[in-house]
This record gives sequence, structure tokens and C-alpha cells, in this order.
Amino acid sequence: MFELSSETRVNELEAESPAMMNALMATGIFREGDNSDLTIDALCWGFGLNPLIILNTLARARASEAPSNIDVSELDGLTLTQVVENIESSHHDYLRETLPLIGESIGRVVDAHGANDDRLIDVQTLFEKMSADLENHMLHEEEALFPMVRDMETDGAIKPTRCGETVGGPIACMENDHNVVREELGRLRELTDDYALPKNACMTYRNMLEQLDQFGQNTAIHIHKEEQVLFPGALKAQAALREDPA
Ligand SMILES: [Fe+2]
Ligand SMILES: [Fe+2]
Repeated sequence: MFELSSETRVNELEAESPAMMNALMATGIFREGDNSDLTIDALCWGFGLNPLIILNTLARARASEAPSNIDVSELDGLTLTQVVENIESSHHDYLRETLPLIGESIGRVVDAHGANDDRLIDVQTLFEKMSADLENHMLHEEEALFPMVRDMETDGAIKPTRCGETVGGPIACMENDHNVVREELGRLRELTDDYALPKNACMTYRNMLEQLDQFGQNTAIHIHKEEQVLFPGALKAQAALREDPA
């Protein structure tokens, strides 16, 4: 598996992740045609920069990179209201049901093994934060963006919500939240070695890792549906209404 470090070469980054490569080029320390055989370490010190700063930037870019293997063709041909219903039933309901259950599983594993493994405490702290972030995030979507989308399709106009009366405001907030969640999911994968089962793991441990893995996958699909289908669809619908008010 690819591991980002100060010894990573620029050409390895290029092969691994367009998002990390773009982030590197945006810093201005590497340009098209430069020697891509250099390591991050050599490249940074050549500019008098501490490589840790660039590595953090690259890790953030990697965490926010949209996975390319997610299939959302089940949404093809649906109205935006139906897309919202799909997201609510497949993802918001799923999270409300499973977040407390996963929290309980983590608690049991921490009670049994936390004294010997600090990373389990970090998993618990991180998951508690993610749960709270996601609860707030879903509420925000359900109180602002989702009603706006339904209004556009049923009434041809948006009723003002706590986030104003255009979809752009809530969408910008939602994208910001998604980036935070993506980074947190990346950290969760790091802390659990990609949900790998430790030797001699008990059933409770196994169960917790399976739940976390499933939670990560469901959340990646959830975010993908919103960013790739719902948000652009809502912006397009709003632009069409402005051009041709009902
Ligand atoms: Fe959502
Ligand atoms: Fe969302």
C-alpha cells in the first residue's frame, strides 16, 4: 500500500494521486518539467522548507480526494426530491441507527483492551467527535438544503430557511463539513491500520472493525451522492428557476 513520507518521490505522488500532485504544484515548489525523481525531503530542503509542512498539505489533499470507484448509477433518472429521499433513507437513517451502536462497540473494546493500546482511546475520541459532527451536519441538511430542493420541485420557489433562500449558502457549508469528515475518516483508517484485525482479536474487536469499515464505506457513498449529484443538481435547478420563474 502507498505510504506518504518525506522519502516519497514526486513521480510516485504523480502516479498515486492527482489531488496530491495538484496540491504540490499549487505550493509552487514543483513545476511541470522539474526533476520528478526528487524526494519530498530533497525538494523541500532545496527551498529551505520543512518537509512536514508540505506533507501535511499533501495528506489533507489526499484525504479530500473523491474516490473514483463509487457507483451512484442507482440515482440515474431520479428527480432531486427522490435523490433526497434516497440519501435520507440509505444514509441519514443508517447513521442515526448505527452511530450509537458503533459507539457502544468501541466502548466495549476500549474497556477490554484500551489499557494496552492507546490508539483505541484515540479511535473512541475521534468517533465521538465524528458522531456529533455528523448529527449536526444531517440536521443542517434536513432543515435547510433538503427543504429548498423539495420547494423548488413542488412550488417552483424556495421558502427562506435558517440559511437564507439560495442553495449556494448551505452547499458551501456542507462541502466544508464533508472535507472535515473525509479527513476524519482518513485518520480513522490510519488508527485502525485500514480496519485490519490484530492477531488473536476477539469477536467484539472484530465486530467493531467491521462496523467501522461499513460506516466508512457508507459515508463515502453518502458524500459522493451529495457532492456529485445533489449539489450540482440543486444549483442547476435554482439557476433554471431564476431564468424562467414559475
Ligand atoms: Fe447527508
Ligand atoms: Fe452531507
